[in-house]
Amino acid sequence: MQKKNTKSLTRLLSALFFSAAMCIVFTHNADAKGAAVLQPSDCIKCHSKEPRSIEENGKKHQTDVTCLDCHVEHPPEGTNAIPACSMCHSGEAHYQLENCMGCHSDPHQPLNLQIAGDITGPCLTCHEDQGFEMQDNPSKHTDVSCTFCHNVHGLIPDCSKCHEPHVAGQTTTECLACHPVHSPLMIEYPMTTPRPYCTACHEEVGELMEQTRTKHQTFTCAFCHRGEHPNVPLCRTCHGEPHSQTTHKKMPECLECHLDAHNLVK
Ligand code: HEC
Ligand code: HEC
Ligand code: HEC
Ligand code: HEC
Ligand code: HEC
Ligand code: HEC
Ligand code: HEC
Ligand code: HEC
Ligand code: HEC
Ligand code: HEC
Ligand code: HEC
Ligand code: HEC
Repeated sequence: MQKKNTKSLTRLLSALFFSAAMCIVFTHNADAKGAAVLQPSDCIKCHSKEPRSIEENGKKHQTDVTCLDCHVEHPPEGTNAIPACSMCHSGEAHYQLENCMGCHSDPHQPLNLQIAGDITGPCLTCHEDQGFEMQDNPSKHTDVSCTFCHNVHGLIPDCSKCHEPHVAGQTTTECLACHPVHSPLMIEYPMTTPRPYCTACHEEVGELMEQTRTKHQTFTCAFCHRGEHPNVPLCRTCHGEPHSQTTHKKMPECLECHLDAHNLVK
C-alpha cells in the first residue's frame, strides 16, 4: 500500500515537472489554448535513444512517417501516446497476426527482425506457395517449422548443416538437383546426373555396369532411369522389338538372352 502511494506521488511529481519542462521548451510553439505543441524536431531534446535508433535503421518509419504520426499524443495530457500498428497497417493477412512486436521487436527499426522459436503460420501470410508445397508433399521436412531451417529471415541453409552427403563433396546445389527442399521425397534428376551419385546407394548395380562390354557401359544411370526415382524403363521403350516377330513371340523377355540390364550380354 505504502509502495503504491510512493509510486503515484513520484508520478505526480514527474508529471508536474514534465509539464513545467514542456512549457519551458515549447513556449514558442503553442496551440490556440496556449498549450505546448510538439514538433518532431523537439523530441530529441528529451529523448535520445529513439531518434538515434530511427536515424540508424528506421527504413520507411524514418522516410514515410514522423514521430508525431505515430505518437499523436504525449503524457501527461495525452493517454494515446503509443500507437497500435493497425492504425496504419491493415487489410492484409499479414496485418491480422498477433503480437507484431514479437518479430518487429523495435518499431523504430521495423525491419530489424527477431525471429525466435518455431514459426510456420505467420510465414505463410507471405510465402503461401512454400506452405502448399510442404503440405501437398508430406515429408519429414513438413514436420519441422519454417524457422527450423530459416532461423534468420531470408537465410538459406546448406543441407550439410543437418545431413551427411551420399558421396563426399556433394554440394547443396547438387542435392537440390534431386531433392526440392520443400518436397524432398519428390526425387527427380537430370539425365546428366553422375553415376557415383546413384551407386552411392546402388553399389552392386554400379559394379555390374563396369563389367558389361556393350555400349550400355558408358551410360549414366539416369539416362535409362529417367525422371522420378525409382523409375524403371522397359528395353522396348528405347529399342522396340528389333528381332524377328517369331523370336519375340517365343521369348518375350529380352533378358532371357541379354541376361542382365546392367551387365548386358550381346
Ligand atoms: C521536455 C522533454 C520531452 C520532450 C520534448 C518530449 N518528451 Fe516524450 N517524454 C518525456 C518524459 C519525461 C516522458 C515520460 C513521461 C511519463 O512516463 O509520464 C516521456 C514519454 C514519452 C513517451 C512514452 C509514453 C508512454 O505512455 O509510455 C513517448 C512515446 C514519447 N515521450 C514521445 C515523444 C515524442 C514523439 C516527442 C516529440 C514529438 C517527445 N516525446 C518529446 C519528455 C519529453
Ligand atoms: C511507426 C511508428 C513510430 C514512429 C515513427 C516512432 N515511434 Fe516511438 N514508439 C512507437 C511504438 C509502437 C512504441 C512502443 C514501443 C514498445 O512498446 O516497446 C514507441 C515507443 C516510444 C517511446 C517510449 C519508449 C519506452 O521505452 O517507453 C519513445 C520515447 C518514443 N517512442 C519516441 C519516439 C521518437 C522520438 C520518435 C521520432 C524520432 C518516434 N518515437 C517515432 C512507434 C513509433
Ligand atoms: C502512423 C502510421 C504507422 C504506424 C502506427 C506504424 N507504421 Fe509501419 N509503416 C508506416 C508507413 C507509412 C510505412 C511505409 C509504407 C508501407 O510499407 O506500408 C510503414 C512501413 C513499415 C514496415 C516496412 C518498412 C520498410 O522500410 O519497408 C514495417 C515492417 C512496419 N511498417 C511495421 C510496423 C509495425 C510492426 C508497427 C507497429 C509497432 C507499425 N509499422 C506502425 C506507417 C506506420
Ligand atoms: C512471425 C514474425 C512476424 C510477425 C508476428 C509480424 N511480422 Fe510483419 N514481417 C515479418 C517479416 C519476416 C517481414 C518481411 C521482412 C522483409 O521483407 O525483409 C515482415 C514485413 C512486414 C511489413 C512490410 C512488408 C509488407 O509486406 O507489408 C509490414 C508493414 C509488417 N510486417 C507489419 C506487421 C504488422 C502490422 C504485424 C502485426 C499485425 C506484423 N507485421 C507481424 C514478420 C512478422
Ligand atoms: C510480410 C511478408 C513476409 C513474411 C511474413 C515473411 N517473409 Fe520471407 N520474404 C519476404 C520478402 C518480401 C522477401 C524477399 C523476396 C525476394 O528477395 O525476392 C522474403 C525472402 C525470404 C527468403 C529468401 C528468399 C530468397 O530467394 O533468397 C526466405 C527463405 C524467407 N523469406 C523465409 C521466410 C520465413 C521462414 C518466414 C517466417 C518466419 C518469412 N519468410 C516471413 C516477405 C515475407
Ligand atoms: C529443411 C529445411 C527447410 C525448411 C523446413 C523450409 N525451408 Fe525454405 N528453403 C530451404 C532451402 C535449402 C531453400 C533454398 C532452395 C533452393 O534454392 O532451391 C529454401 C528456399 C525458400 C524460399 C525461397 C524461394 C524458394 O522456394 O526457393 C522461401 C520463400 C522459403 N524457403 C520459405 C519457407 C517457408 C515459408 C517454410 C515453411 C513452410 C520453409 N521455407 C521451410 C530450406 C527449408
Ligand atoms: C536445419 C536442418 C535441416 C536442413 C538444413 C535440411 N534438412 Fe533435411 N531433414 C532434416 C530433418 C530433421 C529430417 C528428418 C530426419 C530424420 O528423421 O532422420 C530431414 C529429412 C530429410 C529427408 C528425408 C525426408 C523423409 O521424409 O524421409 C531428405 C530427403 C532431406 N532431409 C533432404 C534435405 C536436403 C536435400 C537439404 C538441403 C537442400 C536438407 N534436407 C536440409 C533437417 C534438415
Ligand atoms: C542423384 C540424386 C540425389 C542426389 C544428388 C542427392 N540425393 Fe539424397 N536421396 C536420393 C534418393 C534416390 C534417396 C532415397 C529415397 C528413398 O529412400 O526412396 C535419397 C535419400 C536422402 C535422404 C533420406 C535418408 C537416406 O539417406 O536415405 C536424405 C536425408 C538425403 N537424401 C539428403 C541428401 C543430401 C543432403 C544431398 C546432397 C549432399 C543429397 N541427398 C543428394 C537422391 C539423391
Ligand atoms: C540415398 C540412397 C539412394 C540413392 C542416392 C539412389 N537410390 Fe535408387 N533406391 C534407393 C532405395 C532405398 C530404393 C528402394 C526403395 C524405393 O523403391 O524407393 C531404390 C530403388 C531404386 C530402383 C529400383 C526400383 C524397383 O522397382 O526395384 C531404381 C531403378 C533406382 N533406385 C535407381 C536409382 C538411380 C538411377 C539413382 C541415381 C540417379 C538412384 N537410384 C539413387 C536408394 C537410393
Ligand atoms: C533409355 C534407352 C535405353 C534403354 C531403356 C535400353 N537401351 Fe539398349 N541401347 C540404348 C542405346 C542408345 C544404345 C546404343 C545404340 C547405338 O549406339 O547404336 C543401346 C544399345 C543396346 C545394345 C547393343 C549394344 C552394343 O554394344 O552394340 C543392346 C544389345 C541393347 N541396347 C539391349 C538392351 C536391352 C536388353 C535393354 C533392356 C534391359 C536395353 N537395351 C535398354 C538405349 C537403351
Ligand atoms: C541401359 C539402361 C539402363 C542403365 C544405363 C541402367 N539401368 Fe538400371 N535398370 C534398367 C532396366 C531395364 C531395369 C529392369 C531390369 C529387369 O526388369 O530386371 C533396371 C533395373 C534397375 C534396378 C532394380 C533392379 C535391380 O537390378 O536391382 C536398380 C536398382 C537399377 N536399375 C539401378 C541402376 C543404377 C544405379 C544404374 C547406374 C549405375 C543403372 N540402373 C543403369 C536399365 C538401365
Ligand atoms: C533369343 C534371344 C534374344 C532375345 C529374346 C532378344 N535378343 Fe536382342 N539380340 C540377341 C542377340 C544374339 C544379339 C546379337 C546379334 C545381333 O546383332 O543380331 C542381339 C542384339 C540386340 C541388339 C543390338 C542390335 C544391333 O543392331 O546391334 C539390340 C538393341 C537388342 N538385341 C535388343 C533386344 C530387345 C529390346 C529385346 C526384347 C524386346 C531382345 N533384344 C530380345 C538375342 C536376343
